[in-house]
Amino acid sequence: MAKTKPFDDHLEEYEEWFKENEGYYKSELEAVRIAMGDPYGFVEVGVGSGLFASPLGIRMGVEPSHRMAELAKRRGIEVTEGTGEDLPLEDESVNGILMVTTICFLDDPERALGECYRVLKKGGKVVIGFVDRESPIGREYLKLKEESAFYRDAIFYSSREVMGMLERTGFKDISAIQTLFTERGPRDIHPVREGFGEGSFVVITGIKK
Ligand SMILES: C[S@@+](CC[C@H](N)C(=O)[O-])C[C@H]1O[C@@H](n2cnc3c(N)ncnc32)[C@H](O)[C@@H]1O
Repeated sequence: MAKTKPFDDHLEEYEEWFKENEGYYKSELEAVRIAMGDPYGFVEVGVGSGLFASPLGIRMGVEPSHRMAELAKRRGIEVTEGTGEDLPLEDESVNGILMVTTICFLDDPERALGECYRVLKKGGKVVIGFVDRESPIGREYLKLKEESAFYRDAIFYSSREVMGMLERTGFKDISAIQTLFTERGPRDIHPVREGFGEGSFVVITGIKK
């Protein structure tokens, strides 16, 4: 069953985190913006309250939490309630799929990536933004997992694991960029660099050839 309870119950707390950690938020947004390129025809899966989709110019989302979906709609996103594992979208119908900090909440990430592959047009792009389990923030999240209303039920992945899942699904030209480095804080803007292994927030992309 989709892990929506923490988001239904703690929506205000979720939104507040992004205000308190504005530098992290803006840096993550910039990394995702670079990885996506043109947002035309993108759908965000696990769109939440639209905190990423709205400023990134994404018009459509899929989201299982009713409360999150309602807020995303107020932010101008057309939201269909559903899950990544059973996307309510036609075969080969979208240019791009974005997932931001959603992969760790999926019940079956490989099945969801298979669904992304199915609904993408040829040449379409999947973009996965997440906190790398093997990064400083990832390790901190793991340590505090049991105390967090949000992360108690999450399963964190490393960049290599996410790249492996994309590869097994059939995606090609897989690449990564990273941000959120230890030398800066939550209110600072962080640079975006190639690859993974240093930054805590990684964005991995793959192409359906
Ligand atoms: C950490 S939030 C991220 C929301 C949004 N992408 C953002 O970055 O603000 C994770 C989202 O994944 C959603 N979610 C949980 N299980 C899901 C599933 N199986 N399929 C799609 N989304 C799911 C939750 O309801 C929640 O909105």
